[in-house]
Order: sequence, then structure tokens, then C-alpha cells
Amino acid sequence: MVVVKKIKKVREILTRVRNEKKSIGFVPTMGYFHQGHLRLMELARKENDYVVVSIFVNPLQFGPKEDFKEYPRDLKRDIKMAEEVGVDLIFAPSEKEMYEEDFSTYIEVTGNLTQVMCGKSRPGHFKGVTTVVGKLFNIVQPDRAYFGKKDYQQLIIVKKMVKDLNFPLKIVAVNTVREKDKLAMSSRNTYLNEKSRKKALVLYQSLKLAEKEIKKGVKDPKIIKEKMKNLIEEKGEIDYISIADPQTLQEVEKIEKKVLVALAVKIDGVRLIDNRIIGRN
Ligand code: PAF
Repeated sequence: MVVVKKIKKVREILTRVRNEKKSIGFVPTMGYFHQGHLRLMELARKENDYVVVSIFVNPLQFGPKEDFKEYPRDLKRDIKMAEEVGVDLIFAPSEKEMYEEDFSTYIEVTGNLTQVMCGKSRPGHFKGVTTVVGKLFNIVQPDRAYFGKKDYQQLIIVKKMVKDLNFPLKIVAVNTVREKDKLAMSSRNTYLNEKSRKKALVLYQSLKLAEKEIKKGVKDPKIIKEKMKNLIEEKGEIDYISIADPQTLQEVEKIEKKVLVALAVKIDGVRLIDNRIIGRN
């Protein structure tokens, strides 16, 4: 495995790889790996001849009051973990390498997809994500890129960007990996102390509650949201609960087919997200 910091070098190596007619699988990350990241890498390993992982905490996707500075970083540990799952190349650029001083071009998926859920509470976040992902796609030029369903809205928005801008690659969506107690894996879980960690289970519990209600035949999203709210409220501060169409991400008025139930909750100041696609039967 090689660790590369410069775009020029990545391009040189990957041009050779492509010339050998090898397929390239790509996993974009912000590092501080957990099992969720490793699952993406394992799948990329299985489906491609050559696997590239990027590690870059992208300042563009953090708001001014968000956790860019505190975001956990440990490149040495990440390199070791990636090597163990058979990654071929790690691209770990500096901020300067990705954004030169005069950087002024952005990719923004406009319209409804980016204005709801996390897009509403984190203005500019998805513009930062699509800009960096677009740049990374241009640098790596993969055949397949792997994204986790835990960041479901991100996945749908990246797919839309790929479609609209004709990036010649396939987006592979990978199921959320959970801890034994069902907490969705996230680098931000490291912010939780033991007590908060227990409270955080309420996100999954509320999704299971929604599932139970939907399977029981409850069709009014308001009723389900109210029940979820009552369950969550004493453990955390709700940012949003959404019951939406899984493709358009717009709220549904009546639950008649599969819906996306998604939520963001602050547990002792740590903002966590989770979601589940739930069918009626
Ligand atoms: O999901 C993430 O870790 C990030 O949003 C991504 C896709 C690596 C872009 O910075």
C-alpha cells in the first residue's frame, strides 16, 4: 500500500493502473476509521482490481460553529487499518493541496434535495460535500465509489450530482454498520462519554418504534413523529425527524409505500444522525 499526499502523484500512479486495464474502486472518507469505513473498503476490495481511499477532513463541509477543529484524526492508525483490509493507495492531501489560496469553484446540487433535513440545519454542508467529492472523483477517476447509507441524504445528493454532471462511475450504497447495541457507527461517537453513549441508543430505538407503528398500519406520519418525539425528548434535543420519500427526500403526508425515516438528535451536545427505510409489510 502506498500513502500519497500530492494530486500529481496520485494521477501518475492511477494512469498506470488504468493503462493496465484495472478497475478502480474508491472510498472517500474523513478518516478516523471504524467498522463502517472498513466495510466500504472490503466491498471495494471485492469488486475492483485496485482500491483507493481518501482521507481528508474537508473544511468546506463544516459550518463556522461546527466541529472541524475537534474532528478526530489519527492517520497512523488509519493507515494500519486500511492496509489490513488490502487497500492499495491512500490519498491523504493537505488542505492547501485540495484548496489553493485562490480556490473559487463550487459544486452545488440545488433544489429540494439539499434544502431538507441536514441541509436545512447545516446550511452549506452539502455544497461542501459535493465540491470535495467532485474534486476527488476528478482526481481518482474511479469506476465505482462507495458510500454508506448512514449518511443517506449525502448518498442521494452525490448520486444526483453524478447523474447531472455525467461522472462516468457507479455509486455503490452500503448498509449502515452498527455496534452490538445498534448504535450506528460514526467517528463522532468518540465524543460520547459512557452516559451519553447510553442515551444515544434512543435514535435506533425511535426508528424501531416507527417501524413497529408503520407495520401495524399507522399511516399518518404526524402520529409516528409524535411518538418518536416523546421517546427521544428526555434523552436528547431533536434537530429533526423526517418521514419522507426515499428518492425525493420530501415529507410524505400519508404512509402508503416505503418511506425513509431519518432523524438528527443532539445528545449532550453531540449531533448524531440515523435512518431506516421502512416498508408497510
Ligand atoms: O461521508 C464523509 O465522510 C464525507 O462527507 C465525505 C464523503 C468523505 C466528503 O468529505
